[in-house]
Amino acid sequence: MPEPLDGRSAALVGRDAEAIEVERLLREHRLVSVVGPGGVGKSALAADVVRRMLPGPWAAVAATDLAGLETPGQVPHWMACALRLWGRPRLAEVAGDRPRLPVVDTSEHLAEAVGDRPTLLVVDTCEHLAEECADVLVRLVEACAGMHVLVTSRVPLRTPAGYPLPPLAPEAAATLFSRAALRFGASVTPESELARRICTSLDGLPLAVHLAAGGLAHRTPDELLPFVSRLRHVLDLTSPVTPLPSRQRTLRASLSWSHRLCTPDERLLWARCSVFDEPFTLRDALAVCSDEWLAASPLVTAFAGLAAQSVITPEPPPHPAAFRMPRVTRAYGRQRLELLGEEDEFERRCAAWCVGGR
Ligand SMILES: Nc1ncnc2c1ncn2[C@@H]1O[C@H](COP(=O)(O)OP(=O)(O)O)[C@@H](O)[C@H]1O
Ligand SMILES: [Mg+2]
Repeated sequence: MPEPLDGRSAALVGRDAEAIEVERLLREHRLVSVVGPGGVGKSALAADVVRRMLPGPWAAVAATDLAGLETPGQVPHWMACALRLWGRPRLAEVAGDRPRLPVVDTSEHLAEAVGDRPTLLVVDTCEHLAEECADVLVRLVEACAGMHVLVTSRVPLRTPAGYPLPPLAPEAAATLFSRAALRFGASVTPESELARRICTSLDGLPLAVHLAAGGLAHRTPDELLPFVSRLRHVLDLTSPVTPLPSRQRTLRASLSWSHRLCTPDERLLWARCSVFDEPFTLRDALAVCSDEWLAASPLVTAFAGLAAQSVITPEPPPHPAAFRMPRVTRAYGRQRLELLGEEDEFERRCAAWCVGGR
């Protein structure tokens, strides 16, 4: 995640209200998860909230990113490393001739090491270790009166407070695009038709907006719009100037990370639901996407899972019970459907269902 800086950030666009609310939740509940799809700005917001909470009474302020951690049992140790805490040294049970390291191997040991010191910790990218993180952090915050933890995750966590982070509002997304375009010497005002249309087609996802602006490195603004309109192109755009972790270097990489977190049923439903180009309900998904490989009951579970992971998002009124797949997510699902060889069949089924008046 971006380094927490002293003072207020000028870098974030359109997130004042969100940052104020997350800070309030964090002061009140001491453990808050910011949840949303990859690239929506969770890490950036968490860093901004930390900046806002500095200076404070903190004996320690730290941030750690769990993206590189694969072993659930190492979560307490990883957090202790972030806090540069070792507590009472214990000997790790490591095999062979590797050095014996002091480890913090349980949440109790971690809590003992933290004690009551006022501590502010950001734990970023928890989605692949959601259960373990929630367990460790809930216990830590219960045991340590001065501990405040802000967590980010693509999937909901069992924390006392959760904050679902929405995409940027259209004006903020256009401002972000305009600023990012300047880095390529392109002058695109936020009010321009180009900025508005590009940001709408990318559903206001900050990562997508940054990467689309990267397309200006080799194209004029007029050439960019038709290119971005074909969303499968956007999946592979990279930014030559924004340093991003490999998981976010392209939207395809970001979506693949989410795809790996899904169950096989969720992956299949993601691909099949990509045939809907209008908002759709669970009833529509059952009618169009179920078959012997994805029966009704597992489909209902998978539908809820995709909603929890923001692969599909609820539509605002007047569409009761309707969901939509964000455009870039849909482009990714569409390619998966092609790979499965199911595109024709499910397009046909969707068309027949829609013609039949649903
Ligand atoms: N509100 C914003 N203003 C400016 N840049 C943003 C904003 N939100 C996110 N970004 C940038 O977009 C990219 C993706 O954001 P990030 O916080 O890493 O997403 P997430 O953690 O949800 O996957 C990063 O380069 C980040 O700095
Ligand atoms: Mg992140």
